[in-house]
Amino acid sequence: MGELINVSALVFDAYGTLFDVHSVSAALEARFPGRGAELSERWRVRQLQYTWLRSLMGRYQDFWRVTGDALETACASLHLRLEPRARDELMQAYLELAPFADVPGALLQLSGYRRAILSNGTPRMLAAVVQRAGLDKDFDAILSVDEVGIFKPHPQAYELAPRHLKASKEEILFVSSNHWDIQGAKAYGFRAAWLNRGGAPAEALGERHNLEVSTLAELAERLKS
Ligand code: LAC
Repeated sequence: MGELINVSALVFDAYGTLFDVHSVSAALEARFPGRGAELSERWRVRQLQYTWLRSLMGRYQDFWRVTGDALETACASLHLRLEPRARDELMQAYLELAPFADVPGALLQLSGYRRAILSNGTPRMLAAVVQRAGLDKDFDAILSVDEVGIFKPHPQAYELAPRHLKASKEEILFVSSNHWDIQGAKAYGFRAAWLNRGGAPAEALGERHNLEVSTLAELAERLKS
């Protein structure tokens, strides 16, 4: 498979790619019956918007802060009252996001590659979900944009991977379910595999993914052939 020749390291996005952000829906539904799924969607959309807006404004705050702010405004947008205790409990749920079912097995199959996470999440948030899922040993590095103080898709965020992995960007295959993140990774100079878990349409931002798969297991298969 020409597109994947000489890949030596795989760099994964975290939220939506390895960990299911909508696994908080149950906790949201318990607090706000009938609104869990919609609230989860609004929470995620605002969380991402705030990362992009803060980066453009030059007003970085870490992903924990942004996630909390996004929860508050998502609730407000649905006229739901968020008590401090509920806020704490829902933020706690974000530290306990479940990995997608195909993740542990696929990471094992991909153990011949150096593997890293590169995420907007803070080091504490990432350590919590990785440890809880028992995936600590599956990664050579867990990289957070917090180190550079700007969110993806800024090139400085992607640059963390070659620097920490001591690899050239040409050797790296970036894997994300978020197509905007794929666009950023390609613009930076990585090759990129789009893990299109939900059959989403591609974003029109000028870059093309090198590969599209619907599960991580499929990616492992494609890398073997
Ligand atoms: C991350 C978000 C963007 O993990 O999914 O960086």
